[in-house]
This record gives sequence, structure tokens and C-alpha cells, in this order.
Amino acid sequence: MSLIQLIYMSTLRNNDESVLPAILESAVRYNTRDNITGMLLCADGCLMQVLEGEPASVWATFERIEADPRHHDLTLLTDESVSARSFEGWSMGLRQLTAADFNALPEHAHAFRCSPGELRHRVSPGAALEILKTFGGTSMGMS
Ligand SMILES: Cc1cc2nc3c(=O)[nH]c(=O)nc-3n(C[C@H](O)[C@H](O)[C@H](O)COP(=O)(O)O)c2cc1C
Repeated sequence: MSLIQLIYMSTLRNNDESVLPAILESAVRYNTRDNITGMLLCADGCLMQVLEGEPASVWATFERIEADPRHHDLTLLTDESVSARSFEGWSMGLRQLTAADFNALPEHAHAFRCSPGELRHRVSPGAALEILKTFGGTSMGMS
């Protein structure tokens, strides 16, 4: 079975984080059906999400996410073949980051302060995956 890992960043419309529980609920439901795993991070309305699974399923999910009016300025950071999942066990996790998280790991703070145009230059795919793994370890969601 071939697997891909896709990472993008976006901005919540009006920085409204109150929509996150509903997003997580539908993400868990659809991803369980589609055998997709991943993690969603949010810092001050700025989002980073990784999706993993079979290419056709991941791209179909990404197309729905891209069209979702609850966020905008989507920037794709990477989509690459992988031999194994990094978020096995998470149909989707959610972690809302606080200032304390960034104080503990200041080298990661800049990723969430970039404008969409800067992201591709300033956040490498490797750094994005490290951020998702570091902060996603203590997330809520469904496995
Ligand atoms: C930031 C964000 C992340 C999302 N993550 C997922 C996800 O991982 N899987 C998923 O199926 N839908 C996700 N959604 C929801 C989709 O955009 C969409 O509402 C959902 O898949 C239902 O699609 P439908 O309304 O066309 O049936 C996400 C939406 C947003 C705004």
C-alpha cells in the first residue's frame, strides 16, 4: 500500500478558534472511514495540519479542507511518499498551543508568525514535521 504525508498551514477565519471542536469531530469521523491519520495544531488562529494515508484518500480530503470557508490562505508545505505513518493511532489529534509551549521551544515559534507568502521559504517540511511531532504528543482527539 502506498502512503503519503501532506502538511499545510492556513489561518482560521477571523482567528475564531471556537470552530475547532466541530472541525475535529468531522475530521475524526471522515478520517476513520478513509483510513487517514494526522494532527492539527493551532496557535493564535494559525493552523498546521498533517494528513497521512493512501494518496487518493489524502488528496480527496485535502480538496474538501481547501474548500472549507472556516479557514483561508492555505499553503501546502509538503506532500511526499513515506514508508510509515508518524501519527499512527490518531484519526486526528488537536492541540491548541500556548505561549508557554513556545517559551519551552522558542526555535519553533517563528513558524506560526509567518505570512502565507513566507511560509514555503521559512518553514521546511522537516521542521514542520518536527513541530507536529513535538507539540502533537500531548493532544486531544481520537485514536
Ligand atoms: C482546519 C481544518 C481541518 C480539517 N481537517 C479535516 C480532516 O482531517 N478530515 C476531514 O475529513 N475533514 C476535515 N475538515 C473538514 C472538511 O473541510 C469538511 O468540512 C469535511 O470533510 C466534510 O466535508 P463535506 O461537508 O463536503 O461533507 C477540516 C476542516 C478544517 C477547516
